[in-house]
Amino acid sequence: MTIRVARIIGSGSYLPERTLTNAELASSLDTTDEWIRSRTGIAERRIAAPGEWTSDLAVLAAERALAYAGIAADSLDFILVATTTPDLIFPATATIVQRKLGATRRQVPAFDIQAVCAGFIYALSMADSLIRSGAARRVLVIGAETMSRIMDWRDRATCILFGDGAGAVILESCAEPGRGILSTHLHADGSYEELLRTDGGLSRGLLVDAASGRGFTHMRGNEVFKQAVKALEGLVDETLTANGLEKSQIDWLVPHQANIRIIHSTAKRLGMAMDRVVMTIDRHGNTSAASVPLALDEAVRDGRIQPGQLLLLEAFGGGFTWGSALVRW
Ligand code: ACO
Repeated sequence: MTIRVARIIGSGSYLPERTLTNAELASSLDTTDEWIRSRTGIAERRIAAPGEWTSDLAVLAAERALAYAGIAADSLDFILVATTTPDLIFPATATIVQRKLGATRRQVPAFDIQAVCAGFIYALSMADSLIRSGAARRVLVIGAETMSRIMDWRDRATCILFGDGAGAVILESCAEPGRGILSTHLHADGSYEELLRTDGGLSRGLLVDAASGRGFTHMRGNEVFKQAVKALEGLVDETLTANGLEKSQIDWLVPHQANIRIIHSTAKRLGMAMDRVVMTIDRHGNTSAASVPLALDEAVRDGRIQPGQLLLLEAFGGGFTWGSALVRW
């Protein structure tokens, strides 16, 4: 029997037009450009326009990925959208994306995955399983967020960190073991909810409400930071061990862009020079589930990532959830 593996045949991304700089934030908050840059590595982030929804960003990223792969939306067998900020409670953003892509003819399955900043890695892992099992031949995986909508813009400890955007990849079944997604590793630990969460949710009867300040993102940043560093170090070791690899064999680290200091610590664990790490945090901030595919697409399109190279993708986020994917490009 032929062994099927999942290969990435196209990537795409989209960022909203509006750029929000640290200087602008400092004009309304008790913060400075210097504090934000030195603590986080962020200089600016993009903010979705009023009336621009997560599905709009997702569709633009997906269309670019489809064009890159040279395939029609109608040829997809599955659509997965990783998001923490869906357009609506239901239907899933993935079904909205399917409709906006004009890909309803074959009525292929579409649903959302919610694992906050690790959502894209979770979705990639699900897509990999669908392809390996033979349940799908082509899967569109999108990470898309409008994190600006769940920020309390008066809270300097959180709102300076996040931005909006979307990234997408198309996975296709191929019969070349050793190519594409080599392994994925997922984890969650629900005991840390208090350190990072929103205080809004339908079943608790709380929606995002700027007037009362409810429903926004709350984070005990310093404690999250320590857990993120520890979890990601463990993940790097786990991924290398599972694949019988030495650190020096990884060509590119494509990390979740939450904080430059967390990225430095993961690169150090890999003994990797920073010029082998794809960085977008300075221009994008933390775009949650969109950050890894946004970074990946940038490095693919500017030619840094080349066929045959080995990439380590990783992310850590609310839940806590964390995960990695090892990819032979
Ligand atoms: N400007 C100026 N001062 C600030 C700001 C700001 N924007 N924000 C906080 N401060 C102050 C605090 O009030 C505190 O003041 P105090 O000492 O008088 O109490 C001081 O700066 C230090 O605060 P810390 O929280 O200890 O700062 P830290 O160095 O830890 O940096 C940060 C904060 C950037 C949030 C960092 O902890 C971090 O990046 N944490 C991890 C984030 C992360 O990885 N999240 C997971 C993914 S996100 C998701 O899943 C949704």
